[in-house]
Amino acid sequence: MEQGIETEIVDYWSVQPPFRAEQGEVGSLTWSRSISEHRYRVIPYLKSWASFDAHRGKKILEIGCGAGTDLCEFARGGAEVTAVDVTQTAVDLTRRRLEAEGLHGSVDRYDGSRLPFQDAAFDLVWSFGVLHHSPFMDDLLAEIHRVLKPGGELKMMLYHRQSLLYYYSIIYLRQLRQERGRVSREAMLSRYSEFRTGCPYTRVFSSEEMKERLWFFGQVKPSIDYCVYDTADERKLRADKPLEIEKSGVEDVDRFLQEFNDAARRGSDLRQYGWHLLIDAKRA
Ligand SMILES: C[S@@+](CC[C@H](N)C(=O)[O-])C[C@H]1O[C@@H](n2cnc3c(N)ncnc32)[C@H](O)[C@@H]1O
Repeated sequence: MEQGIETEIVDYWSVQPPFRAEQGEVGSLTWSRSISEHRYRVIPYLKSWASFDAHRGKKILEIGCGAGTDLCEFARGGAEVTAVDVTQTAVDLTRRRLEAEGLHGSVDRYDGSRLPFQDAAFDLVWSFGVLHHSPFMDDLLAEIHRVLKPGGELKMMLYHRQSLLYYYSIIYLRQLRQERGRVSREAMLSRYSEFRTGCPYTRVFSSEEMKERLWFFGQVKPSIDYCVYDTADERKLRADKPLEIEKSGVEDVDRFLQEFNDAARRGSDLRQYGWHLLIDAKRA
């Protein structure tokens, strides 16, 4: 059934890289707690944006649960949780995780663009760092809309185009310097967007583009956070001062880097150049 790019995506995500700062045996309580502690420390806005405790008794669907860290938090907060992921690795890990934490939830292997649920089944759909890895994003969004109750919410994180990580770390440093423009920006982005190189498919989005794509939702509120240089190296995480750069001669790259440096010199809030585009949308 799966062919071409879909198979490549499943294969890539089926290999679970080691988690940073993990402790204990995979699947154990110690392990579960250590990866959660690390996640919410390096992504400081995440807990308050998710409001894990504010959904008691509500039905939540997570698309692309990975290791199930956020799913456990929603379950701990009293929500009735369901998750899907396109890999069996993620499904198994999330099930073990819920069990180790003494929590309950339903986790199965499905592609988010072909959900097995009835219409209007969920109060909230949560998806963190997933839809930008699918060439079929519009099908996923249509499915999310279908399974949400009227008035239900979608909260998702996508990678942000007007970000330091995209323009500086991926395009300026890697494509213009290291790879000398030999491959497309999209290929570079896919190659270097994750901890483990070689992701088959990654895209970046702007707030305006997402508002247009989500036109069939009632309300769409984008925001931006997580201004980092490099998601794989904690020493290079936060950006808080102007960059040492030379002109690259590529118009949009130079424009972005100049704008970033001007904002850093003025002491502006640099979150606007963050890697995470957070979408809060409501079904009408
Ligand atoms: C970067 S990981 C994010 C995992 C988790 N949400 C987190 O924040 O740690 C992306 C996950 O999305 C899953 N995924 C990718 N495409 C998917 C799709 N079309 N439907 C469901 N899951 C998908 C992958 O298998 C992987 O587990």
